[in-house]
Amino acid sequence: MSLEIQQNVSLQTYNSLAVPATAAYLAELTSLDKVREAIEFAQNKKLSMFVLGEGSNTVFKSDYAGLILLNRLLGIELLEENSNEVIVKVSAGENWHRFVTYTLKNGWLGLENLALIPGFVGAAPIQNIGAYGVEVKDFIESVDLINLETGSQTTMMSNKCAFGYRDSIFKEALKGQIIITAVTFCLKKQTAVNISYPALSSYFKDQLSPTSQDVFTAVCTIRSEKLPNPCDVPNAGSFFKNPVISPEQYAELIIEYPNMVCHPFGNDYKVAAAWMIDSAGWKSRVNNSVRVHSEQALVIINPEKRSGSEVLVLAEAIKKDIYTKFGIELEIEPTIS
Ligand code: EPU
Repeated sequence: MSLEIQQNVSLQTYNSLAVPATAAYLAELTSLDKVREAIEFAQNKKLSMFVLGEGSNTVFKSDYAGLILLNRLLGIELLEENSNEVIVKVSAGENWHRFVTYTLKNGWLGLENLALIPGFVGAAPIQNIGAYGVEVKDFIESVDLINLETGSQTTMMSNKCAFGYRDSIFKEALKGQIIITAVTFCLKKQTAVNISYPALSSYFKDQLSPTSQDVFTAVCTIRSEKLPNPCDVPNAGSFFKNPVISPEQYAELIIEYPNMVCHPFGNDYKVAAAWMIDSAGWKSRVNNSVRVHSEQALVIINPEKRSGSEVLVLAEAIKKDIYTKFGIELEIEPTIS
């Protein structure tokens, strides 16, 4: 079947913040042929392109005048298996949490700390999703992508992806230039669980040897208590990154704020943005019905489905206040379009 291009499409159901933007054109991509066809369509009409997975980390500030490429590529393929590990290739439009659940059912271990993260598999390498002491980069072998200018298809090995804390080449040098079509993972059949993250170590304080399945259950429980499900309350997860500060700035701040939540990060320190926002009194504060979440100050919720620019008004007010109080510039984490 050839590609169907829709016009003047509401994006409200396609983004987790439920902001009411419209796209001039939208194409649902269920095969690599359709990806190529959509790129050709956009190039012929001189339209810009924007790739959308589940829309869990995107804020539409205004209507989008180009073509939205809705990534709906599905499929999980076991490429290799031996007694220690598996190599599995997953199409970018697969739901991340469903994939994590599937790996554990098969006895493929490692992704349990990343359970319940919203979004699709294709988004995982873009911001190197991380939670509870684990980052996805440690399980990625390679990323398949198609260049939106040339239409050429490449497999990029993990060591070329410039992975960092919530960062990769796909957010920097290749931003807006590619669509990720599949991600290949290497997962172990036996591995030690990672329960070093404080919330997990305290969850397991009375249990000696939790299994990966136990960790999966714990992460789902902890996340559900603190983080609102975007299906119930529109939100884009953490709205800010945890900022990294120099040892000098750390030394000054810790005198003024002895309770500051901060962890060594290489030679520097990573500060819990949630702690700063919370300490500055922003938890539960509302502006035009856009609200700072009551359980996790890093999350902005949008229950009345206000516009992206209204969400950003609150985010900018928080940024300004944190800079005034702590001298630290917060960086907005979702992609703003
Ligand atoms: N804290 C507060 N107030 C709050 C929330 C947290 O003071 O309202 C303090 C906590 O007491 C804790 C510290 O801040 O000591 C860190 O909190 P948490 O463990 O919840 O983690 P985080 O650094 O705020 C990061 C990720 C989350 C991820 C958690 C768990 C970023 C930007 N966010 O949050 O990711 O789930 O760690 O690993 O790195 C997401 O990306 O959408 C997301 C939720």
